[in-house]
Amino acid sequence: MKGIFLVENSKLAELEIKHLLKPKIIKQEKNIIILETNKTKKIQRLAFTKKAYEIKNITNLETYKIEKITKNVTTKDIEATAKKLKKEHPESKVDLSHPKTIVGITKELQAIKVYEREKLISRRADKRPAGQKAGINPKLARLMINLLNPKDEIYDPFAGTGGILIEAGLMGLKTKGTEIDKKTADKALENLDFYNIKSNFENEDALKTSIKGEYIVTDPPYGRSTSNKTPIKVLIKKVIEKNSPKKLVLTMPKGTELELPKNAVILEREFIYVHKSLTRELLLISFED
Ligand SMILES: C[S@@+](CC[C@H](N)C(=O)[O-])C[C@H]1O[C@@H](n2cnc3c(N)ncnc32)[C@H](O)[C@@H]1O
Repeated sequence: MKGIFLVENSKLAELEIKHLLKPKIIKQEKNIIILETNKTKKIQRLAFTKKAYEIKNITNLETYKIEKITKNVTTKDIEATAKKLKKEHPESKVDLSHPKTIVGITKELQAIKVYEREKLISRRADKRPAGQKAGINPKLARLMINLLNPKDEIYDPFAGTGGILIEAGLMGLKTKGTEIDKKTADKALENLDFYNIKSNFENEDALKTSIKGEYIVTDPPYGRSTSNKTPIKVLIKKVIEKNSPKKLVLTMPKGTELELPKNAVILEREFIYVHKSLTRELLLISFED
C-alpha cells in the first residue's frame, strides 16, 4: 500500500517504520512520511505513528467524515473535498460521530484512514492493576518491540512488572519472561492475567533459568533502588552468552558501557530524554551467524 503516516517524533518514528514496515520512503517532511510498504498488517503495531492513511481510489463510500492530516488544510479545502466526494458518490452521507470511512486530506492528497494509535497511557506502569512507580512506558516498549521486529516471539529476561511482555502480548506476539524478585514477579503475573496474556513467565534469575529466547527486548536493572548490583555490562554479556540471540533491543542510561561479542553489530543507537537526570540510550543489536 501507499500511505501517509502522521508521526510524533520524526527520528524515532522513522526508525520504527524502517524496521517494522521495511518501506520505500517517497517523501518525508516534518511529521509526515509518505511511503510504500507491503507489510500492511503490521501498521496496527506502530507506537510513534499517530495516524496512518492509505492513498487509494475511493470505490464505495457510504458514511464518511473528512479530517485534516496537515495543519495547513483550510475550511475551503474541506468544503472542496466534500463537494468532490458528493459528486463522485451521490449516495454517500456525512456522519461526524460514527462514519464508516474517514477521509484524511492534505493540500494535495486524499487518503483513507487505516490506523489511529490507541491511548496507551492507561497501561503506564503506575496505572496497571498491579502498579509500580517506575517501569517502561507502553509507547517505548512498543517502539523497542517494533525495532526488534521479531518473527513471532520475544523474551524479556528482566521483565519487572511486565511492561514489555504486556505490549508484545497485545500486539499478538508470544512472550517469554523472567523476573528475579518474587514480589515483582507476582505483580507481573497479575498484570499479564488482567490483560489476558499467556506468557511463559518465571520468577527466576535470567542467568540461571532454562528459558531462552532468540529475540530479546529488555530494560535491564539499574539505579540505586535495584537490589541486584550486578552492572548492566555483566548482565547483558551473560544474557548474550546464554541465549545466543539473533537480535537484541535494550534501553539503558546514556553512556552505560557494554561488552559485546565479536559477532555483534549495533544497527541503531538513539537517545531518549526522560527527565533532568535520566536520558536513555536505545540500542538495536544484531548478531551475525
Ligand atoms: C528496570 S526493571 C524492568 C522494568 C520493566 N520493563 C517494567 O516495565 O516493569 C529491571 C528488573 O530486572 C529484575 N532483575 C534484576 N536482576 C535480575 C536477574 N538476574 N534475573 C531476572 N530479573 C532480574 C529486577 O528485579 C527488576 O524488576
